[in-house]
Amino acid sequence: MGNRGQWGSRAGFILAAVGSAIGLGNIWRFPYTVASNGGGAFLIPYFVALLTAGIPIMILEFGLGHKLRTSAPGVFGKLNKKWEWIGWWQCAIAFVITVYYVVIIGWTLSYFMFSFGLQWGGDAKDFFFSNYLGITGGPFEIGGLQMNVFIPLVIVWAVNYLVLIGGVKGGIEKANKVFMPILIVLIVIITLRGITLPGAVEGLNYLFTPDFSKILDGRVWIAAYGQIFYTLSIAFAIMLTYSSYLPKKSDIVNNAFITSLGNCSFSLLSGIAVFSILGYMAGVQGVPVQEVAGAGIGLAFVVFPTAISQLPGLNVIFGVLFFASLFFAGLSSSMSIIEAFTSALIDKFGLNRKKALTGACLVGFIVSTIFATGAGLYILDIVDHFINNYGVALAGLVETILIAWMFKLTIIREHVNAISDFRIGTWWDICIKYVTPILLGIMTILNLIQDFTKPYEAYPINALWAMGFGTVLFAVILGFIVAKIKGSNAYIENIAKGVEVE
Ligand code: ALA
Repeated sequence: MGNRGQWGSRAGFILAAVGSAIGLGNIWRFPYTVASNGGGAFLIPYFVALLTAGIPIMILEFGLGHKLRTSAPGVFGKLNKKWEWIGWWQCAIAFVITVYYVVIIGWTLSYFMFSFGLQWGGDAKDFFFSNYLGITGGPFEIGGLQMNVFIPLVIVWAVNYLVLIGGVKGGIEKANKVFMPILIVLIVIITLRGITLPGAVEGLNYLFTPDFSKILDGRVWIAAYGQIFYTLSIAFAIMLTYSSYLPKKSDIVNNAFITSLGNCSFSLLSGIAVFSILGYMAGVQGVPVQEVAGAGIGLAFVVFPTAISQLPGLNVIFGVLFFASLFFAGLSSSMSIIEAFTSALIDKFGLNRKKALTGACLVGFIVSTIFATGAGLYILDIVDHFINNYGVALAGLVETILIAWMFKLTIIREHVNAISDFRIGTWWDICIKYVTPILLGIMTILNLIQDFTKPYEAYPINALWAMGFGTVLFAVILGFIVAKIKGSNAYIENIAKGVEVE
């Protein structure tokens, strides 16, 4: 295992971890999740989820990756030989997320181009669904391959491949050193433009006024925990992998706080940008903010283009900047998600990076073309809902229960405290051992009740079974199968060593 990649500097690691965390989840998903969960009501559960689950799990994953220096399956395998499949399950979840995530990055690339000349015209909704996606009548009506979506998809896969082939320091770290500063500048410009628009304050009131009656609604809590896991890239193999590339002398606790708080500050900033613009648009149309914000998954591609066209000036530049920010945010995350399973293949089978990456990208690319068909958006919506609620959240639940209850949490706490600027106390153990598993457990049960009593978004039941629960099950089964395949001798030896106590 001596030739594993390594970050060139602490800043390089933090940029890459923040780059992974900040993604479409922050600019595309966060605003519509806030909007569909009662606006400001969402922020309280969101911050509770950040403090009780997000940051503690980030510290746990950074600590484990750094201590055990191998990707997710190796980490779980070293904790207990029988647990290797959990690492592969997380890799399979990462794979599922990748195959639709890259498609959305492709949309942002198209919309970046469409911004020149505001090509969506007067009816951005019709343009997105009919002209661009060529949407069919339902998830089983596949329709044809949409070249509009397919070509940018090829480009996005190619860019990911070209960055990742450069390795940890020469590829991922270098790319993030360029992408992240660009992204920060873009979001600051967009926010400044947003908050100086007339009516912005209406949008911000909607974002920041908590509606305490919603706090008792379980669904808002589910959405908040789901969003935190997704946005922080935890429980799907990524942060374990990224921290396995840290040099021996590295801080853990501070890095985890910087990454988590940096990510959530970015979400707030993009929330402020998006909602001020929605406030402005609501004013122009003479309707309440709630009405313009309720577009769900299409918020960034339907409501935003409409808003861009209605801006008082510099519309094209604004559109270009907005979609460029989505593009860079998405890319820095997709690189990390692909790296998570590629690195696992390299570690287990002793493959070289080129072979593992080429295989992973080819298979991923082929699977992702399903989302470039006329039924793509439906399938994407179903897969996204199920893999987050029963993939990521469940993997987080299993991860915390196993590590806290069937392994000694103190070993990790001592490891982390020995090398970090700040020490973690018993609050961390309490979060990992009790708070997170209990809340995630309740959440999963509530989720199941909800999905069984009311079909998600009124999709046909068999589509939800096949594409939703089917995908969730596929990830678990794939995890078991790959764990059973024999790995290289070096891997077997490494797993056999288990966790060495310092
Ligand atoms: N953490 C990534 C995002 O928020 C996956 O998009």
